[in-house]
Amino acid sequence: MTSKLLRGRTLSFLRWPEAIDDHSAWRYEEDGGLLIDGGRIIAAGSYAEVLKKAGAGVETIDHRPHLILPGFLDAHVHFPQMQVIASYGAELLDWLNKYTFPEESKFQNAQHGRRIARLFLDEMLRHGTTTVAAYCSVHKSSAEAFFAESHERNMLNIAGKVMMDRNAPDGVLDTPQTGYDETKALIAEWHGKGRQLYAITPRFAITSSPEQMEMAGVLCREHPELHMQTHLSENHAEIAFTQELYPWSRDYTDVYERYGLLGKKSLFGHCIHLSEREADALSQSGSVAVFCPTSNLFLGSGLFDYQRYRRREKPLRIAAATDVGGGTNYSMLRTMDEGYKVIALNGEKLNPFQSFWQLTRGNAEALSVSDKVGTLDEGTDADIVVLDAHSTPGMRLRMETVETLAEELFLLQTLGDDRAVREVYVAGRPAKSAIVA
Ligand code: GUN
Ligand code: FE
Repeated sequence: MTSKLLRGRTLSFLRWPEAIDDHSAWRYEEDGGLLIDGGRIIAAGSYAEVLKKAGAGVETIDHRPHLILPGFLDAHVHFPQMQVIASYGAELLDWLNKYTFPEESKFQNAQHGRRIARLFLDEMLRHGTTTVAAYCSVHKSSAEAFFAESHERNMLNIAGKVMMDRNAPDGVLDTPQTGYDETKALIAEWHGKGRQLYAITPRFAITSSPEQMEMAGVLCREHPELHMQTHLSENHAEIAFTQELYPWSRDYTDVYERYGLLGKKSLFGHCIHLSEREADALSQSGSVAVFCPTSNLFLGSGLFDYQRYRRREKPLRIAAATDVGGGTNYSMLRTMDEGYKVIALNGEKLNPFQSFWQLTRGNAEALSVSDKVGTLDEGTDADIVVLDAHSTPGMRLRMETVETLAEELFLLQTLGDDRAVREVYVAGRPAKSAIVA
């Protein structure tokens, strides 16, 4: 494979930025270079340095004056909900029954699953997202469609067939045994194939019987290296119904705890209304709380207290996500814009460096994939986004008054969307410009 050299303003994070002037938390090169070969970043630094290593004959792709960052990660998204987005007028449980379950039942048709998987990954790449943790539908074929499409594009994605065996229409139900068997077969076929990673995916405590929850626990014990993803403490009616279904539980988190579903690879969507005990349990187990601001606002679920979770004595690991189709946008820039507002409603702020850390290295650490993606470190996979803060007339005008990198990032977050994404590289290959409209 031939190598290439990307030139532009490179930005990558080394750790959480404590403050807006915590310069040693990131590496920024005004004239930066990334040498890519075999799908990996093999040299990073100033353009002059990297050019010296590459040798004069190397193909250079000049992205100046744009920013070059690690591709974004989305830690919680439902690929079968592309035609659920913008469904009016319901809170979580009604929204699931009225819109989501009927829509997901269409994935009985494998061809529909293949079409939506293709369009979904197109949309992710168009918005600068190179890795997702995705829920498929209950149907095995939906997960096969997702992985086949992801593998074909050589993307690093985490996904799983949803397990759900009650409190939903027949068209979206499995059984404890079929849920287990199909999950096992999918793990055998897809986990570790190329860049594909499997996540054991019980939808949430309401739609799994105790027998199925037990099976999910068995799967986690049999495959401790796998991710587990589910929903937790999103909405008050959901919490009350869960307590009715599991009357022995101390609280919602306790349900997942008793079935052995907490741990460092466990991703819990929402986590809005946690008690201190629940937050302690998540923290002690190293579980991840996934912040889904556009969804939480759209469904009226509540305000995730990002800064309190981060600063508490037993801090939570936090990821950020769109939660499409409860979420209202595919863009992680739009997501962090709404995240900023949710955090502001809690009387706090998230500065632009912290935001972009979250979208890249922060989410990669939360998903336990930061050795491969989420930075521009040498030796990692070349999943990269190129951002243009002048991508609309309004942004161009505002950029006239922008003086610092922090201001530019904040402008990108506040006004940016897919138009700000000039190019995306997946394992070194241009992927946005390759999409045929
Ligand atoms: N809880 C269980 N399933 C879902 C879902 O599809 N979306 C959201 N936002 N919450 C859920
Ligand atoms: Fe969700």
